[in-house]
Amino acid sequence: LANGLGITPPMGWNSWNHFNCKIDHNIITETADALVSTGLANLGYHYVNIDDCWAELTRDDKGNLVAKKSTFPSGIKALADYVHSKGLKLGIYSDAGYFTCSKTMPGSLGHEEQDAKTFASWGIDYLKYDNCNNDGSKPTIRYPVMTRALMKTGRSIFFSLCEWGDLHPALWGAKVGNSWRTTNDISDNWESMVSRADMNEVYADLARPGGWNDPDMLEVGNGGMTKDEYISHFSIWAISKAPLLLGCDVRNTTKETLEIIGNKEVVAINQDSLGVQAKKVRMEGDIEVWAGPLSDYRTVVLLFNRGPQPNAITASWDDIGIPPSTVVEARDLWQHETLKTRFVGNLTAITNSHACKMYVLTPIMS
Ligand code: DGJ
Repeated sequence: LANGLGITPPMGWNSWNHFNCKIDHNIITETADALVSTGLANLGYHYVNIDDCWAELTRDDKGNLVAKKSTFPSGIKALADYVHSKGLKLGIYSDAGYFTCSKTMPGSLGHEEQDAKTFASWGIDYLKYDNCNNDGSKPTIRYPVMTRALMKTGRSIFFSLCEWGDLHPALWGAKVGNSWRTTNDISDNWESMVSRADMNEVYADLARPGGWNDPDMLEVGNGGMTKDEYISHFSIWAISKAPLLLGCDVRNTTKETLEIIGNKEVVAINQDSLGVQAKKVRMEGDIEVWAGPLSDYRTVVLLFNRGPQPNAITASWDDIGIPPSTVVEARDLWQHETLKTRFVGNLTAITNSHACKMYVLTPIMS
């Protein structure tokens, strides 16, 4: 969407994956504090996004959405002021239907202008717009109404389309929103994660600055996968130019989780100015090579082992689109080291089960 936002994929946190409906004012302010104190905010994790269940079931007598008194007693504007005072941005959630998916609060269908105005007046910076309990009309009819309503407010609000891939939002999302879901909901396990990675990859050519494919939010740190699996999860999201929206409790992160989500070099791949989503360039049984171009003629390569045994995986220049005689320097983004050997034609590495190796290849001028 040409609203000047999402020039690189959005980064931040969202309440849903860890907290579901059990959210309140303190969770949001403490999360904002934690993003700052952990250093994650400095890495670019700026959006603090409230998901479903934040509002009262009924609108006020003027038809406005109101924050749930029992859990958000000071209202949303106060939260936005707090989050902004930390140098961060506040996101909120609504639905292109009569009720949100949780059915605990109203949706915005038929109230788009009024709700967009409310969000803007509160200082909201990001809207996630879900697709539950609608009137059965096409999302291509319902979503653009909110796009126009947001634009009309004059406030810059990132617009995240949460149509779960049913009507292929990747095919129509670019004019409507800044990101669009390509899958239904992720859960915190390996099968769910890899299948979302696969579904999202199909649409790689449609991602670009201003509009990104969204394979759903991160599960890193929620406990359902091994360290290697979470590294694979984070690596694939990064090279896929997916929104990096943390889904864990950042107030209580382990050192291991912080090492993954705080890997500067991997975040930099996600935020690279070229904005091109990596693709699978080779698949042989459990072995995959993913690759994509970066700025300054560099290439990111992921050697990905989906199988139960360690495997040697080879990325050949032919597959990844580098001229055959090009000599490259390889930087290992998880070991944080530039390999002493230079490579020409291909690069091979042993990759453990459910793990990946991630390299940036930089051509050496001779
Ligand atoms: C469905 C979405 O896909 C989830 O991410 C979450 O927002 C829930 N709805 C909330 O009900």
